[in-house]
Amino acid sequence: MLKKIGVIGGGYIGGVLAQEIAQRRLAREIGLSDPAPVPNPSDPEDRQAVVKKQSVSIGKSLDIAEGLPVVSRDTKVVGSKDYSALAGAEMVINTAGVPRKARPDGTFPSREELLATNLKVTLDVAKGIKQHCPDAMIISIANPLDAIVFTLDKRLAPPKNRLMGMAGVLDSARYRYFVAEAASVSVENVNAIVLGGHGDDMVPVRSSCLIAGIPVAKFLDADTLKKIEERTRKAGGEVVGLLGFGSAFVSPAWAALEMAEAIIFDKRKILPVCAKLDGEYGVKGLFVGVPCILGKNGIEKVIELDLTDEEKAAFAKSTAGVRKTCEEAEGMLKTL
Ligand code: LAC
Repeated sequence: MLKKIGVIGGGYIGGVLAQEIAQRRLAREIGLSDPAPVPNPSDPEDRQAVVKKQSVSIGKSLDIAEGLPVVSRDTKVVGSKDYSALAGAEMVINTAGVPRKARPDGTFPSREELLATNLKVTLDVAKGIKQHCPDAMIISIANPLDAIVFTLDKRLAPPKNRLMGMAGVLDSARYRYFVAEAASVSVENVNAIVLGGHGDDMVPVRSSCLIAGIPVAKFLDADTLKKIEERTRKAGGEVVGLLGFGSAFVSPAWAALEMAEAIIFDKRKILPVCAKLDGEYGVKGLFVGVPCILGKNGIEKVIELDLTDEEKAAFAKSTAGVRKTCEEAEGMLKTL
């Protein structure tokens, strides 16, 4: 159990995180931070006064805190309209930024299209972390995932074991779920890894997909697997289109918590993590999804897989996409 976990962003993912951290007894204290809503200056003063009082992070914290006696937890839950709720956190999970949302015509932006807006938010997040918990382990979920982690690295420059993105656990969970459903077996039996960037070019690694240790090809034909892999790549968007109001929030929160638990309990668990590469997989200086050992020091080791030629090409394509978005981010950072 940690002394404190900070959750940045009081939206849907932040809310699930706070509930689960309390339920799973991962920390004695949870700090939930989210910026105060800005009153509209053209509204009447009494309306502005109402908005000034509002705070989703303080409201959600109070809601969870008031339920604690019912679930027998003594977790302290604090919220703030600034970053002060993060003070002293040993771990922070960053969800801050706008999510993808379906437009009235049913289309929705790519994760990369969120870059300009979420980059500005991320600069504030970096300041907040620097001020209130500079040594915290950071797990970031905000999109575009790989570029936001890259930006946090540019601004905070923490040791590379202490900053990571959550995407691969979620993408792999989606792959595993679809395989389990098609093969009509327990999700617990399906093991698989999705590598690369958290975009539509992500790489579900078929050669890593095993059902109870048996290669998946024994259960599902190549055509079915191809369809599952295509669905996996687009799975985030499928949920965005269905929900209408935003993007997936339960599965991303659970996925980040699998990483958090591996670190908190020093499990040395191998999970796909968006990690800073230093020559592994032929990549240097970029954050890309690769299997890592997660333990008490965060990323303890990057594992290099023997990929097939096809998988290598797919990984290179996905990495090229990440590089492009990070270059765009770097360009924008110069102007912010
Ligand atoms: C998704 C978002 C959270 O994949 O990136 O659902």
